[in-house]
Amino acid sequence: MRRDYFYKKAKREGYRTRASYKLKQINKKFNVIGRGDVVLDLGAAPGGWLQVAKELSMGTVIGVDLQKIEYILDVKTIRGDITIDETIFKIKEEIQTADVVVSDASPNLSGNWSYDHARSIELSESALKVAEAFLKPGGNFVVKVFRGDLYDTFLDTIRKRFGYVRAYTPEASRKQSAEIYLICKKYKLEQA
Ligand SMILES: C[S@@+](CC[C@H](N)C(=O)[O-])C[C@H]1O[C@@H](n2cnc3c(N)ncnc32)[C@H](O)[C@@H]1O
Repeated sequence: MRRDYFYKKAKREGYRTRASYKLKQINKKFNVIGRGDVVLDLGAAPGGWLQVAKELSMGTVIGVDLQKIEYILDVKTIRGDITIDETIFKIKEEIQTADVVVSDASPNLSGNWSYDHARSIELSESALKVAEAFLKPGGNFVVKVFRGDLYDTFLDTIRKRFGYVRAYTPEASRKQSAEIYLICKKYKLEQA
């Protein structure tokens, strides 16, 4: 593995992954997570975003992943698949609503570009569905998306549901990556 700048910084500063800096950079620029917010993190393993979300909100933080997430103080984790309804029921046992939903979920990449792109968009759509089951009106959503031919349609869907939408690539994302984060604020419960 290439031991790059953010990898080393994460080791030094006690974060589980370099991905932590993506959420930090997103929050610095867009202020999505505030003190006291209830935060739901989808595709949360190994827990780098959970560490940052907890620092920022100091409130209730819940992480969901297919993989087991090692213990983080005062963070509840759920092992589950965000593409199935059963996981929504499991989350409902912990929280009824969230101020912020973040998703860094990504499929295992096969190397086949169009297949990987389609699966990643499906995962982003699942994240949106889970977000809609929990977000309060006015709530915020951050979702990782991979650029490709299905991206524009997903963006159109997102724009109908949120009053503010920006696409952003944090500095901590690898240069060659096709990933981009949609920063969505002002969730509209009633869609126009
Ligand atoms: C890039 S990692 C997330 C890193 C995380 N943000 C962090 O900072 O530690 C992507 C995660 O998405 C998870 N994932 C992929 N498909 C999923 C699904 N259907 N349901 C739940 N999690 C999923 C993977 O297991 C993986 O842990």
